[in-house]
Amino acid sequence: MSSQAKLHVLVTRAEIESTVKKLAAAVTADYKSKNPLLLGILKGSFMFMADLVRHLDFPLEIEFVRLSSYGSGQQTSGKVKMVQGLKLDIRGRHALVVEDIVDTGNTTAFLMEYLKKKNPASLRLCALTDKPSRRRVPVQIDYTGLTVPDKFLIGYGLDCAEKYRNLPDICVLEE
Ligand code: IMP
Ligand code: MG
Repeated sequence: MSSQAKLHVLVTRAEIESTVKKLAAAVTADYKSKNPLLLGILKGSFMFMADLVRHLDFPLEIEFVRLSSYGSGQQTSGKVKMVQGLKLDIRGRHALVVEDIVDTGNTTAFLMEYLKKKNPASLRLCALTDKPSRRRVPVQIDYTGLTVPDKFLIGYGLDCAEKYRNLPDICVLEE
């Protein structure tokens, strides 16, 4: 995209699609009759959420919260900020958090704790990618798409300083 940045594809759009379909099948098996609330974490999960729900053929609702832990580039600040919180009462609802990537675990651990206090009937996490080598806070991922190496990834919703979210493949950025 920029003339300097070199990208190489780590996960192709075809691999993403088959991963999303597998996750959708598992989610369908568990939530088909539960009218779940799918809760995406913005901004990174927007593309995954959009593709995932197209494979879910049963009643559900979609909400988003916006969290931020990154500064402007590739370094996580470690401090999670709730930029836009939950506007909905989730008490008694089956909530499924939809996330693009679990890296240090700070973001998802923070959100799961926050949501647990709101007394949902159930609370689970679905992550398209997991980077376990970077974990600092333990996180239980109930539905994992792909385990990825310790590389900074962009594309399919993932950004570097707000760029590259629109790439259809998941790529590694080499400066
Ligand atoms: P964590 O709090 O360190 O687990 O990171 C969670 C958030 O950081 C994710 O939701 C992403 O938005 C972002 N993030 C983590 N790793 C990457 C990456 O490799 N590329 C782009 N964004 C990332
Ligand atoms: Mg994210």
